[in-house]
Amino acid sequence: DMTKVVLISGSLRAASVNSAALRAVRRIIEQARPAASAVSLPIGRLPFYNGDVESAGTTPAVAVARALVADADALVISTPCYNGAVPGVLKNALDWLSRPDGASSLTGRVAAVLSASPGGRGGIDAQPALLDLLDSCGAITVEHPPVAIRGAHQRLDGAGEMTDPETVAALRELVDATFEAVAIMAEQRRSVLG
Ligand code: FNR
Repeated sequence: DMTKVVLISGSLRAASVNSAALRAVRRIIEQARPAASAVSLPIGRLPFYNGDVESAGTTPAVAVARALVADADALVISTPCYNGAVPGVLKNALDWLSRPDGASSLTGRVAAVLSASPGGRGGIDAQPALLDLLDSCGAITVEHPPVAIRGAHQRLDGAGEMTDPETVAALRELVDATFEAVAIMAEQRRSVLG
């Protein structure tokens, strides 16, 4: 199983609970699927989307992001909820990845979504907007019970890692659903190609 997974955190904070959740996802993938790879795509280095910047030629950070996503089998995106939607930095990253028109690196990409927040709703209110966005960008969203990590700051251990069993179990199910979706996509591609 050489599946390549790209992890995207919607938060730029060093102590982000969403980034911590994705580090837990990475550990789960490394343990359960040693041949697969999981790398994170930092979105903070992307400039604000600007059509002139795009026309002027590819910014290195943009080229790297596009190539990484285009080469991936699946994305796992963890987002905070900012005022009922995704943070602007995440929207910006998805906008870049959706370009150029007709050659979105998100097209056909399997994408799983989760959210985390210190609050009692676990950032779940950002998930419908994120799923719609991914859909608009041509990604194939993974169907699974929503994973919204409530009280997320209390789930970090002394090392700042999300190791509590309840969260790890939910993330393991999300990872399984993601790999299953990748396998189904691969099977569909095979049957279409003959
Ligand atoms: C928030 N936060 C927040 N939380 C929430 O549960 N519902 C919300 O609508 C909002 N809105 C919101 C707007 C803005 C502008 C900020 C900066 C924050 C709180 C947010 O969930 C909290 O900061 C999380 O810790 C962010 O996730 P990271 O950075 O820890 O991954």
